[in-house]
Amino acid sequence: MTDKKWFSDARFGMFIHFGLYSVAARGEWYASIGQVPPEKYREYFETFNPVHYDPAYYAHIAKQAGMKYAVLTAKHHEGFCLFDSAYTDYKSVNTPIGRDLVREFTDAFRAEGIRVGLYYSLVDWHHPDYPAFKDPFHPLRGTSAALHESCDFDRYLDYMHAQVRELCTNYGKIDLLWFDFSYEGHSGPDWRAQELTEMVKSLQPDILINSRLEASGGCLGSLLTDAPSPWAGDFAVPEQIIPPAPLKTPSDSPVCWEACQTLNNSFGYTADDHVYKDSRICIQQLVNCVSKGGNYLLNIGPDANGSIPLQSENILREMGQWMKYNGESIYECRESTLPVSAFGCRVTARDHILYLHIMQQPVGPLPLSGIRPKDIRYARILSTGAEVEVLTKGWAAENYPDYTFISLASQANETQLLPDSADTVIKLVLHRPASSL
Ligand code: GLC
Repeated sequence: MTDKKWFSDARFGMFIHFGLYSVAARGEWYASIGQVPPEKYREYFETFNPVHYDPAYYAHIAKQAGMKYAVLTAKHHEGFCLFDSAYTDYKSVNTPIGRDLVREFTDAFRAEGIRVGLYYSLVDWHHPDYPAFKDPFHPLRGTSAALHESCDFDRYLDYMHAQVRELCTNYGKIDLLWFDFSYEGHSGPDWRAQELTEMVKSLQPDILINSRLEASGGCLGSLLTDAPSPWAGDFAVPEQIIPPAPLKTPSDSPVCWEACQTLNNSFGYTADDHVYKDSRICIQQLVNCVSKGGNYLLNIGPDANGSIPLQSENILREMGQWMKYNGESIYECRESTLPVSAFGCRVTARDHILYLHIMQQPVGPLPLSGIRPKDIRYARILSTGAEVEVLTKGWAAENYPDYTFISLASQANETQLLPDSADTVIKLVLHRPASSL
């Protein structure tokens, strides 16, 4: 069994979507949605020159944000490779930039102490052996150009397996492989997924693989059953949604998961998508994930020149400010098995500690259910270390004996504004392990 501890401890990662689609600036699905003719795409290839592609800077931003791992699109659905594959000419080294962008990524992120992951698209809209005519997504679907008889899917699979072998052989230790994605007629055995999984694990014994050799954004695959397939992967990847509750199998075993999310509404750079979330929302979503035992993979989509959009950079900086003082309530934390609750609150847990994430301003003392004052050794605001009072007597406590009250103010009946409106974390140190209460 692969050791997933580093992954569950890390909790927060960076997704990087970058490719020829960054030039089109209409998202990574543009080729499919716009049914873009190959000649037009050829132009993006011939002029691809991201002079500001600077993974050392990306890694610096990721580190400052508190991210512990990163995943780069080595090849997206468009088929263009950011790595120097021996099996295709359709690669970044053959464009004006002339560089192996995957190697620069792995080198730079490792140098910052950040684990490296590679995204590899199973789908390929460029390879001539990827069936196009009847495919629901292929840019050439339904066209006469897609009706060539020499298309041989097995040959495509050989190519795809060989490229995955290259990624697992030529770039040192890869911590994570992010396949994307399966759909009707293209799932599991159709990808020769068992053989692929075995090959990857033999080349990179510690690597973690996501669930999309049989799953997609909308379907989490057999990891959520009691009998996962041999290619089910190591973790499930819900997309643009955070599961309402921890993911479990029917027999109640926890399932390792990671939610991937965009900062605006697009993974690939989209020039006119200005609908950015703010850092407050992203902090709360990160907490939301950890409080349900999951990871948060937050995306950046560098532009055609390779620069990170300024709005994205600002959000990550602000998240980093919060993480600097509150990261202890994220890393190595798990969901709390206790039904501790308060209005607008989420709980993460580790050893003898419960972290209450207060995201909504309380008026007066904060009522907690599910925990008794005698269970609590002391309570502090995590970011400042300031003591907060656990009320054991006084009017609030007496009138509502089933609740434990915490006061952020010096007088129990006063209201104190939350020091951090995104999430003020209260650290409750318990007398016993959180799991044994
Ligand atoms: C989807 C999309 C893809 C994106 C991925 C990220 O599967 O096809 O564009 O890279 O989700 O989760």
